[in-house]
Amino acid sequence: MKKIIALALVVAASTFLAQHHAPMAQAEEMGPVHSIILPTIPAELKEGAGKDKVMTLCAICHTPDYIPMQPRLPARTWDAIVHKMIKVFGAPVSEEDAKAISSYLAAQYGTGEK
Ligand code: HEC
Repeated sequence: MKKIIALALVVAASTFLAQHHAPMAQAEEMGPVHSIILPTIPAELKEGAGKDKVMTLCAICHTPDYIPMQPRLPARTWDAIVHKMIKVFGAPVSEEDAKAISSYLAAQYGTGEK
């Protein structure tokens, strides 16, 4: 009797393992190359006065994609972000360039509000 139970367990276990290994075998047949779809992030900034300054000064620490990734923001919020980059993170941007960058951001990625 004990032998029969043991045999039944072995059969059950191997059936279980066979079933659960099947997806892996399938993946091996398909080969190691898989493709995934990543969300689209805009790679190019909009044209406009001051874009060159943004492309050079705002791409030192992170990609300029951080800009189009934001929702549209009022001018004062863009200005605050530019000054946060300077004061908090140490972005090497002069006050003159900061003004040009803030107005570019407000014009291209703004809400129209001040
Ligand atoms: C000295 C490094 C540095 C420079 C230069 C820099 N940033 Fe940043 N920026 C950061 C850091 C650090 C963060 C926060 C990163 C994070 O949370 O992953 C950040 C985040 C941002 C964000 C995301 C929103 C937020 O408030 O955190 C925006 C937008 C942004 N930067 C815009 C700019 C713009 C515009 C410029 C050009 C004036 C600029 N950055 C230059 C360091 C920098």
